[in-house]
Amino acid sequence: MTDLRQRFQDADQGHVFRFWNELDPIAQKRLEEQAGQVDLELVALHRSLLTPGESPSAPQFHPPQLFPAQPQDELAEHAGRARTRGAELLEQGKVGYLLVAGGQGSRLGFDGPKGMYPVGPVTDISLFAWHAARLKAAANRHGHQAPWYVMTSATNDAATRAFFAEQEYFGLPKDKVHFFSQAMVPALDMEGRIMMAQKDQLFLAPNGHGGTLHALAQSGLLRQAMNQGIETLSYFQVDNPLARPACPLFLGLHSLAGAGMSSKVVAKTDPGEKVGVLGTADGQLGCIEYSDLPAESRDARDENGDLVFRAGNIAVHALQTQFVDQLTRDGLDLPWHLARKEMNVVGDSGAMETRPGVKFETFIFDALAKSPASVTLEVERHLEFSPVKNAEGSDSPDSCRKHMTDLFAQWLRVAQMPEPERDGLGAARLEIDPCFAENETEFLGRMPADPQAQERGNLYR
Ligand code: UTP
Repeated sequence: MTDLRQRFQDADQGHVFRFWNELDPIAQKRLEEQAGQVDLELVALHRSLLTPGESPSAPQFHPPQLFPAQPQDELAEHAGRARTRGAELLEQGKVGYLLVAGGQGSRLGFDGPKGMYPVGPVTDISLFAWHAARLKAAANRHGHQAPWYVMTSATNDAATRAFFAEQEYFGLPKDKVHFFSQAMVPALDMEGRIMMAQKDQLFLAPNGHGGTLHALAQSGLLRQAMNQGIETLSYFQVDNPLARPACPLFLGLHSLAGAGMSSKVVAKTDPGEKVGVLGTADGQLGCIEYSDLPAESRDARDENGDLVFRAGNIAVHALQTQFVDQLTRDGLDLPWHLARKEMNVVGDSGAMETRPGVKFETFIFDALAKSPASVTLEVERHLEFSPVKNAEGSDSPDSCRKHMTDLFAQWLRVAQMPEPERDGLGAARLEIDPCFAENETEFLGRMPADPQAQERGNLYR
C-alpha cells in the first residue's frame, strides 16, 4: 500500500487516497485493488492531451472508393462472385461474429446493458436476443454455427452474462458464445486529476470501441479463433438491430480484395447530418468527424448530384484475425479521443457534485489507416442501419421500431399481404422473426406458392 500510494503521489494523483482514513477495511481494499490496476503512464499521457499542442495544418480529405449499393455491369459480376465467396466463408466456418456491447448507453438512459433493451415491435425481444436470432438464422442458411464474441465492460459484464444465461443463450449453443471485457480508464478533471465516483472508487469509463482489438487479443479469444480456422471477424454494434453480420456480399468483397479491415457505409443525403464519413485524410483511410470536414467539402456534390463525402459510417466492419493479431502484437497505438462531459463525482469536501471532466476513448475505425487494403461498401440505410442511441427523437427506440416495421411492411406489400394498422407514431405492430426471413427475397421465398389471404395473414399473427 505504501508503494502504491507513493506511485500515485509521484504521479501527482495522491488525492485518490484522500478519504482513506474514513473508509472501512473493505472499502480500503476495494480502492487499493482498483488503484493497483491503473496504468499511471497512460494517465500521464491522457493528462498531456488536455493541453492542446500546436494544431497541425488542415489535412487533405478525399472520399473513399465506394462499392455501390446497386452495382452495374462488371461490378455486378464482381458482386456475384463476392456473394459466392462470402457464402463459402460462412459455410466453411471461417467467420466469427464480433459484437461490441461495452458502452455505457448514457444517452438512452436504460437501466441495464443496452443489449437488454426490448426493441421488438411486437414481442419486445431484446437487442441481444434479436442479434442472436439473426445469427441462428445465418447458421440455418449456411449450415454452420459460427462463434459469437461479445465484448462487455466492467460496468455491464456481470449483468450481460447473467442475461444470456437466464435466456439460455437465446437458443444458441452455449459453447459458441464467448464474452470478453474491455479495459476501463480513469476520467480526469480539467487539471488532469483522476476523478472519484465514490470515496472508495475511481471514476472509470470504458476505453472506447477501439479497445476491442487489444481486449480480444488479451482475452486469448483471438488466438483461439485463429486456431479454429476463423479468418474474418464480422464486427457490429449492439445498438443496431438492422446490422447484418452474416452478409455474404460484404464478407466476399472484403476477402476478394485481400483487405485487412473493411467497412459498410450508408449514403448521407443531407450535408448537415451530423455523422462521421469515411474518407482519407492525407492519404490515410479513416472516419472524418462531421466537425472536421470543411463546409465546401461537406456540401460538395458530384456529377450525379450525390454528396462527394457521403460515406456515412455505420460501424459495421470486417476484420481479418491475422490483421488484428499483427496490430495488437505491434503495440497498437490508436489515437485517443477526448469527450468532455459533466460528471457526478466526489468533490474535495467529500460531497457529490457535478463537475466538468474528460473521458478518453479510442475508436475502431482508426484501425482502418493500418489496413493494407480496404473495401467500403455502400448499403441501403433502410435495410441495414437504425441505431438506438437516444431516449427519444431520432435514433431512438421509437424511430428504430418504426424503421423495423416499415421494412417488414414492405415485405408484406411485395408479398401482397395485408398490413396491420399503424399507431400514432406511424409504426405498425409488426415483426418478422429473423429465423423465418431475414430479407425480402427470403420472405417471398418462404411464402406458400399460391397463398390465400387468410393463410398469409396467419403467418404474422
Ligand atoms: P456509442 O458510441 O453509441 O456509445 O457506442 P454508447 O456507450 O452505446 O452510448 P452513449 O454514448 O453512452 O450514449 C457504439 C457502440 O460501441 C459500443 C457500444 O456498446 C455500442 O455498441 N462501445 C462503445 C463499446 O463496446 N465500448 C465503448 O467503450 C464504447
